[in-house]
Amino acid sequence: MAEQVNTMFDPSLNLEDLAWLRENWSGKLIVKGIQSASDAVDVLARGADALVVSNHGGRQLDRAPVPLKVLPEIRAAVGPEAQLILDSGIMSGGDIVAALAAGADFTLIGRAYLYGLMAGGRQGVDRALEILRTEMTLVMQLIGATSVAELGPEHLRNLAGVPNAAMRGAAAR
Ligand SMILES: Cc1cc2nc3c(=O)[nH]c(=O)nc-3n(C[C@H](O)[C@H](O)[C@H](O)COP(=O)(O)O)c2cc1C
Repeated sequence: MAEQVNTMFDPSLNLEDLAWLRENWSGKLIVKGIQSASDAVDVLARGADALVVSNHGGRQLDRAPVPLKVLPEIRAAVGPEAQLILDSGIMSGGDIVAALAAGADFTLIGRAYLYGLMAGGRQGVDRALEILRTEMTLVMQLIGATSVAELGPEHLRNLAGVPNAAMRGAAAR
């Protein structure tokens, strides 16, 4: 299985290939897997419309950088206008709030919705989203933020110790 999957990836792909893709694709071009400020700058310079700061859920490389931790330096490097999407490790509404505060425009979720899907199909996904929404609201109330637009680095200090398990318990009630 792993051998089959590996045939789908080309490890020699580089920034020049991205420039070629940009020339030949007029639709939105979003590059996933950005893990450093220098790569973010280089990829945007080749014409990408948005970046997904991601380690693909940490499933490929143990000890890959934690996206939430590298996000602030990437935001600082690319400026306020670049579209940054945070992916990997979003398991609670508090994680989403932290990502937005650290500079993400929005986040993706992978396993968080898949767990809901496996547990209850379509309804399970709806329930997973409802839990995330409830947790987000609760965390924002606790840190005194009234809208996602006002979330910024100043909130990160207050989010460092949010106990996610306790938040999940609160949402489940
Ligand atoms: C079953 C499964 C298959 C995946 N397949 C791919 C893939 O083919 N290409 C890819 O870029 N990411 C793939 N991912 C990673 C997701 O796109 C996403 O980056 C990751 O799940 C986000 O982390 P999270 O699960 O912690 O939210 C896969 C993830 C899962 C769980």
